[in-house]
Amino acid sequence: MFDSVAAQGTARALRAEHRGIRTERKEPATMPRVAVVTGGASGIGHALAVALAARGDVVTVADIDEQAAETVAKDLRARHPGRAEGAALDVQDAAAVAGLIQSVKDKRGRVDLVFNNAGISIGGTAEEHTLDHWNRAIDVNLRGVVHGVLAAYPIMLEQGFGHIINTASLAGLVPSPLKIAYTATKHAVVGLSLGLRSEAASHGVQVSVVCPGYVDTPLLDNVNRGLPQTADGAHARERAIKLQGKLYLPEHLARDVLRGIDRNQAVIVGPTYARVAWWIARFTPSLALRSAAKNFREMRSVPEPRHVA
Ligand SMILES: NC(=O)c1ccc[n+]([C@@H]2O[C@H](COP(=O)([O-])OP(=O)(O)OC[C@H]3O[C@@H](n4cnc5c(N)ncnc54)[C@H](O)[C@@H]3O)[C@@H](O)[C@H]2O)c1
Repeated sequence: MFDSVAAQGTARALRAEHRGIRTERKEPATMPRVAVVTGGASGIGHALAVALAARGDVVTVADIDEQAAETVAKDLRARHPGRAEGAALDVQDAAAVAGLIQSVKDKRGRVDLVFNNAGISIGGTAEEHTLDHWNRAIDVNLRGVVHGVLAAYPIMLEQGFGHIINTASLAGLVPSPLKIAYTATKHAVVGLSLGLRSEAASHGVQVSVVCPGYVDTPLLDNVNRGLPQTADGAHARERAIKLQGKLYLPEHLARDVLRGIDRNQAVIVGPTYARVAWWIARFTPSLALRSAAKNFREMRSVPEPRHVA
């Protein structure tokens, strides 16, 4: 079904449709979009793939865990024939990311949505972070997004439409102790996304960044995977529940993200806990710093400092 829809569309009509301009050609209310989701085999990426396929979009579920990606795609195809395929992808490999996104463009004729979502969790105090912790965080969480942008943006520029959605974190918006390498990469992804958004808008391309609070996914149980474990790393789930009260469900975040895309929101934040924390960091940064320092002391039982940040 998708291929015939794409074949009918002229580039001009598609560009107009993406800019919300009415054209003579009647499009279905929810036109199928072509989407790629990295880290699509689990957690937030999986929930995004499910929501996209349910909406009628055609989604490539890309993940370093090839078997899990194929399983997710197979499950989606069983429910929505023709709307999903799996792909093995390590986002640390720039050529592989470029190859995958180009192959989707070649096969489907266009790429509407690219979710640079794959990520890993690194946690611990600053002094527990080794160079390996830093490098792994940067390689996956930052370079992975850079590779996705380098692959998708030129294609979208040529098309004159498209939407890049990068997954950062609430940790990319507020002071976040006990995971400074992770926090640094997520702040970088927010900065990259907002800067790119400012340029891309002139070309009809949209960019959003997703900044979730704690979401109930396997990420919280896999901190520092393949790296030396830290005192805090093994307790990320308990810490998340203590801080946020209740973990957000990935399917609720996926709903927020799809709504944010429809509205072309620059920064998509959820749940309410995260929106409040973001608001405090913007409007009373000193309170956000005091609160982060207090959280750190409580989590690590360290003594009161002589002065607060
Ligand atoms: N879960 C949370 O509380 C939370 C909060 C804020 C932001 N995030 C961000 O959301 C994104 C998704 O995380 P999640 O919670 O769904 O985690 P998850 O562990 O459930 O899923 C992450 C997926 O990414 C894949 N992946 C890891 N490294 C990869 C690589 N090099 N190349 C390709 N795929 C790779 C994993 O195999 C996994 O399927 C991440 O960027 C994460 O930092 C998560």
